[in-house]
Amino acid sequence: MLDQFASLLTDVVEGQHRFRARWQPFQEDTSLAVDDASLRNALQDLQTRLQDNYPFFHPMYAGQMLKPPHQAAVLGYLAAMLINPNNHALDGGPATGQIEKELTADLAQMFGYTAHLGHLTSSGTIANLEALYIARHEQPGRAVAFSAQAHYTHSRMCEVLGMRAFEVPADRDGRINADALNTLCLSEDIGTVVATLGTTGLGALDPLPQLLELRERHGFRIHVDAAYGGFFTLIADDAPDGVSAEVFGAMHEADSIVVDPHKHGLQPYGCGCVLFRDPAVGRHYVHDSPYTYFTSDDLHLGEISLECSRAGASAAALWMTLRMLPLDAETGLGAVLRRCRSAATQWSEKIRTSEKLSLVLEPELDIVAFFPDTRERSATAISKHAAEVFERTMNDAENPLYLSKLRVPTALLAARYPDIRADAEWTTVLRSALMKPEHAGWIERIHSTVEQIV
Ligand SMILES: Cc1ncc(COP(=O)(O)O)c(C=O)c1O
Repeated sequence: MLDQFASLLTDVVEGQHRFRARWQPFQEDTSLAVDDASLRNALQDLQTRLQDNYPFFHPMYAGQMLKPPHQAAVLGYLAAMLINPNNHALDGGPATGQIEKELTADLAQMFGYTAHLGHLTSSGTIANLEALYIARHEQPGRAVAFSAQAHYTHSRMCEVLGMRAFEVPADRDGRINADALNTLCLSEDIGTVVATLGTTGLGALDPLPQLLELRERHGFRIHVDAAYGGFFTLIADDAPDGVSAEVFGAMHEADSIVVDPHKHGLQPYGCGCVLFRDPAVGRHYVHDSPYTYFTSDDLHLGEISLECSRAGASAAALWMTLRMLPLDAETGLGAVLRRCRSAATQWSEKIRTSEKLSLVLEPELDIVAFFPDTRERSATAISKHAAEVFERTMNDAENPLYLSKLRVPTALLAARYPDIRADAEWTTVLRSALMKPEHAGWIERIHSTVEQIV
């Protein structure tokens, strides 16, 4: 990857020369001048500081939702960043603004939307904020409900927006409990339900088809937070290396969807996306800007966005990536996701037959959560052992393995393993996001490393 990237860097510089040559030559001001040696020194110091990182690129890093972007994304980002367009308005980024509109149309089509309004955002958090902001306008005065396993951003953003929020318990599969939601809707005025497709902790899929039935009964909006899981819709075919066709196949009926290209879309940070099924919701964004929206009567993305400045380079990066790895089930991004999914099924298979480890639940995407078996089957003993394994795998001098820790309600574990004594409300377990395709070839090693340490 690095060699390919290095060989194309000169093309990026050449593109800049071509762009700059179109205007009158000028001398860069001396106030901006820096000498090569100081620049190199500063760069070396930065590189030294950057050594203080975990090896996100490596298959033995299987902890948080982290990996470097694809080289196509880096080249696209760099090429555009040297111009630094701002996708707030066509005044700031005509080319990348147009690219962003094409990309959001492609993403909307991937989810089966026949019409849409949408744009990229700086993050999943902002994308979800926008979805809830529109929900508040569409369902004034009504509350929001989401699962106890939903990302914490939903309760925070409800606070920001002044919306009442209700947490619905999750069932033994880590999914929103549809019966509990139904009961809640009978006593509270729920105007929006957040369905998470790919919960951050366990990668669980809320039962979207059931929630759509409840929508008929209670008349709420459904917002799908697929920040993590959205791209898995490409491989929603129930194949051994695919995911649930039923759940993902229902996405086109949701009122809004969030997906993060900076999670499973191989992008650098700064790339989320929000999509609405009804383009007419754009009216809720209406505002005027005394500074922008002058160069074209076409839609400026800032007119349908809560954010102002946004990197046009993010759109360029995603465009380059999807040119190389299209939104396809068998090649391109779909093939990448199949490898990740296959890593999760391989590992869960091994854990299921392990005498030292137990699964928290069957993985629905590529996140695997498990715990080391302990002689004393209690929440406290499991938590203690999981924390020790976490430290020891990470600090192994020769063969470090990076996992993450996750706090789950002990009730969720006890529903599957009734012999676990609930001496604490929460249990710490181990979690692994197998979001690099290389993980598929490393499961044997990852598994044996964990088993040895346990
Ligand atoms: C399901 C879900 N929603 C929202 C977010 C927040 O996204 P971001 O970190 O891009 O702000 C995350 C992040 O992990 C997530 O997994």
